[in-house]
Amino acid sequence: MDAILSIEGLKRSFWGVEALRGASFSVRRGTITGLIGPNGAGKTTVFNCVSGVVPPEAGRILFDGHDITRRRPEEISALGLARTFQIARGFAGLTVRETLLLHGDAQPGERLGTALFRPAVVRRRERALNMRAEEVARRLRLDHLLDSLATDLSGGQKKLLEIGRALMGTPKLVLLDEPVAGVNPALAVEIAEHIRSLRAEGLTFLIVEHDMDIVARLCDPVIVMAQGQRLAEGGFADIVANHAVQDAYLGRRS
Ligand SMILES: Nc1ncnc2c1ncn2[C@@H]1O[C@H](COP(=O)(O)OP(=O)(O)O)[C@@H](O)[C@H]1O
Ligand SMILES: [Mg+2]
Repeated sequence: MDAILSIEGLKRSFWGVEALRGASFSVRRGTITGLIGPNGAGKTTVFNCVSGVVPPEAGRILFDGHDITRRRPEEISALGLARTFQIARGFAGLTVRETLLLHGDAQPGERLGTALFRPAVVRRRERALNMRAEEVARRLRLDHLLDSLATDLSGGQKKLLEIGRALMGTPKLVLLDEPVAGVNPALAVEIAEHIRSLRAEGLTFLIVEHDMDIVARLCDPVIVMAQGQRLAEGGFADIVANHAVQDAYLGRRS
């Protein structure tokens, strides 16, 4: 298997609660892989470890040929791994364009030095970023909203803007945390279409989502987590027929 991401034996606890107890799985390049499981299974903690926000206490994370275990978030995103957050935020006072530009500008420290000594370089970089922001907005059909305030967008449009922020850095793998939660069904289908066509252009996705209709139509394979570990993996139909998975969702102990 051509794995773009592998996690091996990840462990992490919070105040004595074991969020991850040796979680291991791989994401095959070019897939839209689903990551599901009951609340508290450890899905968001996996995303936090992989994106460098929360260091694992044990285990290893490999991304696209690099060992990224315990690397800083900026280093990880510079390698081509982007994520969105469960709660889509609109930053107060920023337009859609500014929100996208904010994300694309990854080196604030370097920027200050460059701005003082090489203004032409800065202007060229700003133009390139602005073009990228317009390209991303067009791609997600948000271009008519570029100069609207991000906080004025609908819930679904905020979700799209989150995906847009992830796309600014031209990633290889995107982790999406509940991309359609709280979104009306029509826009949820539209978001799913965007994800599918981005995959056709070569992106890989790992998606946490509770909406099982969307998981069924979008994700293959589906990885099920329960109690901080991988419980099962396979096509959606196999997963829903799996007794251990049914037990985990119903909270029964087998
Ligand atoms: N930052 C944190 N501080 C304290 N507890 C946390 C933190 N992050 C996660 N947890 C705990 O770890 C467990 C797994 O949570 P999480 O990864 O959010 O699961 P999921 O996303 O599958 O619902 C839960 O018991 C949760 O309360
Ligand atoms: Mg979560």
